[in-house]
Amino acid sequence: MQNIQNIGIVGAGQMGRGIAQVAAMSGYRVSLFDVSTEGLAKGMDFIKGQLEKGAEKGKWDQLTAANCLKNISPVSEMSALAHCDLLIEAATENKVIKFDIFKELDEVAKEGAILATNTSSISITEIAAVTKRASKVVGMHFMNPVPVMKLVEGIRGLETSDESFNTVAAVAEKMGKVFVRANDVPGFAVNRILMPMINEAVYALYEGVASVEDLDLAMKLGTNQPMGPLELADFIGLDTCLAIMNVLHEGLGDTKYRPCPLLKKYVLAGRMGRKSGRGFYEYK
Ligand code: CAA
Repeated sequence: MQNIQNIGIVGAGQMGRGIAQVAAMSGYRVSLFDVSTEGLAKGMDFIKGQLEKGAEKGKWDQLTAANCLKNISPVSEMSALAHCDLLIEAATENKVIKFDIFKELDEVAKEGAILATNTSSISITEIAAVTKRASKVVGMHFMNPVPVMKLVEGIRGLETSDESFNTVAAVAEKMGKVFVRANDVPGFAVNRILMPMINEAVYALYEGVASVEDLDLAMKLGTNQPMGPLELADFIGLDTCLAIMNVLHEGLGDTKYRPCPLLKKYVLAGRMGRKSGRGFYEYK
């Protein structure tokens, strides 16, 4: 297994900043990169806020929070990730963007460094193929909110080596997560099941089965889920849900994965869920 001390994270959005916080809290030295300086500053502020809240709630003490923050260096050039042993990409769920990032990471990262992606649905094999180190490319799918959710879904591409896969499994476990192994098929394990459920809830709304609130309440109280499927869709982002449904539909070729027209319409209208202030619900 490889020795991992320095972790580079690409993307300071809701997933990247969560991964950075958890990695730094577990003793890794983290370099957090984002193309947007504003996005990077926002990500760092969010982490600082979370660390302060945790200290106030007694989850950790002030010194631990301060040390964790010290372990995270915000960087605005990808070349500043050259020393990292493991790089975790957590950028937008878009093939073109991810391929460009992996081409650049492959140039920048030191020889032997592992390149992991937090993709929720794009093929690891396909991402690996744009690099010259396919054996070092692996899927490391965290759940949102990263500090709370216990799962990391590990996905190996066709060429991923045992050493790379076992190394990221050990890193996830050191971060306090449970590592579940899934094959490189569209949606992997979580989204193969979760997204059709969310899409079906949107169809149920579209067909007038019940109101938004009642559909969510039925699933929350009837199946013991912390959030109803429509609330969860808003939380994940409707654009992300649609992107994953498209991957399932195209990748598996079965009409049962057809994204609901209402989901498409909301995304076209800019209703992306919590992040845009409106999805199935309205947010202040
Ligand atoms: N970052 C860090 N901690 C957070 C947080 C965040 N963004 N949001 C909530 N928390 C923490 C709170 O601090 C609180 O911690 P304590 O109990 O230790 O005080 C705890 O989570 C509970 O929070 P709240 O009391 O504020 O709210 P809640 O009880 O309603 O829980 C929730 C909020 C944890 C998000 C819960 O509703 C939940 O588990 N929802 C389902 C989330 C889920 O399914 N995520 C997976 C989505 S799928 C995915 O991510 C993958 C993909 O590819 C799409």
